Amino acid sequence: MDEQVAGQTPERGAGIAVGILGGTGPQGRGLGLRLALAGHRILVGSRDAARAAQAAAELREAAGRDVDIDGAGNAEVCVSADVVLVTVPYEAQRATLPPLADALAGKVVVCCVNALAVDELGPRPVRVEAGSAAEECAQLLPGARVASAFQNVSARRLARIGEPVTVDVLVCSDDEDAAAAAMALADRIDGMRSVRAGALRLSQPVEDLTAVLVGINRRYKTHAGIRIDGV
Ligand SMILES: NC(=O)c1ccc[n+]([C@@H]2O[C@H](COP(=O)([O-])OP(=O)(O)OC[C@H]3O[C@@H](n4cnc5c(N)ncnc54)[C@H](OP(=O)(O)O)[C@@H]3O)[C@@H](O)[C@H]2O)c1
Repeated sequence: MDEQVAGQTPERGAGIAVGILGGTGPQGRGLGLRLALAGHRILVGSRDAARAAQAAAELREAAGRDVDIDGAGNAEVCVSADVVLVTVPYEAQRATLPPLADALAGKVVVCCVNALAVDELGPRPVRVEAGSAAEECAQLLPGARVASAFQNVSARRLARIGEPVTVDVLVCSDDEDAAAAAMALADRIDGMRSVRAGALRLSQPVEDLTAVLVGINRRYKTHAGIRIDGV
């Protein structure tokens, strides 16, 4: 077993079940794997419960040790989880979230979505009427306590569990408890540090920054993250 993974403290925070909407994709899988290794119960969500179960089985295998990961339909995940991450493509938010609004009322929802598109010049931000994907998420889930985080974190880095993810995670929210919950998740991932960036409306530049990072990654053939100096 890898030293870094073995060095984590699975007992802390183990009581918090983290649900992941669209958890079958690379970003949801990566966050689920890392948070499971940090001791959280993980519920991988999908539009298709069988696909979620398959992804959960693959993640348990990838972990290489005993972890608490199960799969379920997105709706069931919202009922069972304490905190819910949104890791669907931006275009999927408007269809995915409204049917889940009742189940998510009062819960912390962490939006990891980037409003981005790719054209002939490469990645570019998509202008969203709400301001950002995260603000749109908050509009679609009026009773939820929404924070945004993890938009700048590469799924490839998350998947390489032998290596710490030495990046900062910018957390935006208008709700201090939601921000604290998102920060606690980030801080439990090996190598990661949370930075409280500001109000939810600052998710727009954070999401835009992902387009810059994708451009850098293409040019330098890497999976770059960000580090904030002086904090
Ligand atoms: N990939 C990265 O490195 C990365 C890094 C930072 C942030 N992000 C953000 O994280 C989010 C997920 O990224 P990803 O690369 O994991 O995305 P993805 O693989 O394209 O999609 C994730 C999951 O969302 C579900 N989904 C796809 N289309 C859907 C639709 N039309 N309606 C409802 N659900 C749909 C699928 O799950 P089911 O089919 O099982 O329902 C899929 O496995 C994105 O918003 C992205 O901007 C990604």
